[in-house]
Amino acid sequence: MKNISVVGAGTMGNGIAHVFAQNGFKVNLADISQAQLDKALSTISKNLDRQIAKGALSEEAKSFTLTNLTTTTSIVEGVKDAELVVEAATENLGLKLDIFRQLDQAAPADCILATNTSSISITAIAAATRRPELVIGMHFMNPVPVMKLVEIISGYTTKPEVTANIVELSKSLGKVACVVNDYPGFIANRILMPMVNEAVYSLYEGVAGVEEIDTVMKLGMAHPMGPLQLADFIGLDVCLSILNVLYKGFGNQKYAPCPLLVNMVAAGYKGMKSGEGFYKYSQGSKDLVVSKRFT
Ligand SMILES: NC(=O)c1ccc[n+]([C@@H]2O[C@H](COP(=O)([O-])OP(=O)(O)OC[C@H]3O[C@@H](n4cnc5c(N)ncnc54)[C@H](O)[C@@H]3O)[C@@H](O)[C@H]2O)c1
Repeated sequence: MKNISVVGAGTMGNGIAHVFAQNGFKVNLADISQAQLDKALSTISKNLDRQIAKGALSEEAKSFTLTNLTTTTSIVEGVKDAELVVEAATENLGLKLDIFRQLDQAAPADCILATNTSSISITAIAAATRRPELVIGMHFMNPVPVMKLVEIISGYTTKPEVTANIVELSKSLGKVACVVNDYPGFIANRILMPMVNEAVYSLYEGVAGVEEIDTVMKLGMAHPMGPLQLADFIGLDVCLSILNVLYKGFGNQKYAPCPLLVNMVAAGYKGMKSGEGFYKYSQGSKDLVVSKRFT
């Protein structure tokens, strides 16, 4: 494979495009928003600079990566020569079904269509296309250039050869691939999100404050980041969408999203990407400051 198309240029799309381009693939990054595409290119450039500063990358490798990248606001244009599409648009079933119908029309007949969804059924997405055997989950972790794991989700109809192909491709990106079956939340978020939700419930019920909850989990469980900081980092809207998929998919009350999380998302407090969630983020500052709403 040489030509990859990444659809969606937000938190995950820019990282996925970065990793493929750095490994020599020609990457077309598509988004409906030109502003998101501009932001993605600037984030990729900054992240490459960070790798250079650490001595992990040369200036030549940076220009090589950037020359492998093109962008477009037309999905149809972006996928017409693709051998693999990785969709990383907003976590919403209706939106993803729409995108996959479009991809199915516009991409070459043998092109593999992968989704980076955190929780939505790969089988349902595949059923929206005329090539369900070529649809698969390729779930990268955030931040993509740093995190080693790719959770590969084999849908009910995914061809075993396609799964094997995507495993090999992930390895060629320097990642570790783990194949799992297609049930709500797969493995990563089925286990992670109940923990995040429980942390939000603990705050909501006044058991402890933001800092205390995160410190207990960081120092007590050796987690690199507390669950509330992690939720901000993932995006509170993304966490809420995943919890709703788990809740609906299993019909079990234990996955019901905490009303505080629901309120925060409704009010536009989505965590790091919106500037405030459990913590407040200001441009250029690395300090972790608890949001005034929780002090
Ligand atoms: N944030 C995380 O930590 C994380 C981790 C793993 C997987 N994911 C999954 O990755 C996907 C993307 O999440 P994100 O956090 O990058 O979201 P995000 O909100 O940062 O970005 C979503 C992007 O999709 C674009 N978009 C919306 N509709 C589109 C369309 N019709 N065509 C093309 N682009 C469109 C938006 O303009 C935006 O740039 C979701 O499925 C999410 O569940 C997220």
